[in-house]
Amino acid sequence: MLGSAGRSSGISAYAHTNIALVKYWGKRSGVDRSLNLPAVGSLSLTLDRFGTETTVELTDESGDRFVLDGNVVSGPEAERVFRFLDLVKPRRSRAVVTSRNDVPTAAGLASSASGFAALAVAAAAAFDVALSPAQLSQLARRGSGSAARSIFGGFVELTRGARDDGEDCVARPLETALDVRLLVVRCATGRKHTDSTRGMDVTAQTSPYFAAWVETHEADLRRAREALAASDLERLGSVMEHNTMKMHASALAADPWVLYMNGTTLAVLHEVRALRQAGVGAWATMDAGPHVKVLCAPADAARLSQAFATVPGVLGVEVCAPGGAARVLEAAR
Ligand code: PMV
Repeated sequence: MLGSAGRSSGISAYAHTNIALVKYWGKRSGVDRSLNLPAVGSLSLTLDRFGTETTVELTDESGDRFVLDGNVVSGPEAERVFRFLDLVKPRRSRAVVTSRNDVPTAAGLASSASGFAALAVAAAAAFDVALSPAQLSQLARRGSGSAARSIFGGFVELTRGARDDGEDCVARPLETALDVRLLVVRCATGRKHTDSTRGMDVTAQTSPYFAAWVETHEADLRRAREALAASDLERLGSVMEHNTMKMHASALAADPWVLYMNGTTLAVLHEVRALRQAGVGAWATMDAGPHVKVLCAPADAARLSQAFATVPGVLGVEVCAPGGAARVLEAAR
């Protein structure tokens, strides 16, 4: 219902970001690309810090508008948001989408995961489309693969599925008694140079190691699931690190090569290995950006955070705990 100023009151939603322990890298070929189906499954941890708050207001203005962190956005980034709204409700009224990221945008800290998860939840509510969490997750996936996982809290698995219509590509939360911390070690400022879609497409099309990545992936997922069921942090950390290195090795072998790490990333990796050799449980992962995320036990988080803060080039360390599911906030005034 539109008010006299041509606007509804708007619906706001919040979603946390998530970091994949077993990564999604590569889209399924031979299927409708707009479904955004992954070549492999993935397993992640939703974080209690970093996320996106998004408000969707219906408007009788002639076009849609997207405002990100106070700036009106136009071009492909805005078009991606408006096309996403069409998926939520095909014959819809125009909308004003206002988002605020409390994670740096496009810096390899999963802003698209929290962004499209918050947008899915807010848009479904604003357009009055009733969707289950699994359906919201399938919707969010069409904006960004990793967003499918941010609908849920804690550890989450996104199953690859086999159907061409993507109906069996679904995310679900995983039960575990394991409590962990993930340290976000910031290794650079600014936007990344190759976005994840471009990076994974060039890897899938040209890297001789992409086939090996896909072939060995299911075994990593199985090991990670088993580690969670057994609350075995060491096993989870080792499979996470191994899976990360395989992802980056396949990207590096693409033509042209795709490299997300910088010198500070490598310095942090050496520190992780040195700490482990000294008997401290710490395991590293990186996504489509230079930052390192370190998995550890809650009791080790404070001293590890201090250790990484002193590595030359590190800009800051944030300690994150498992976070909750995406949710609708109260209606905006
Ligand atoms: O969801 P996208 O398109 O931003 O791709 C995510 C890719 C990685 O972050 C590298 C891995 C993952 O599973 O989140």
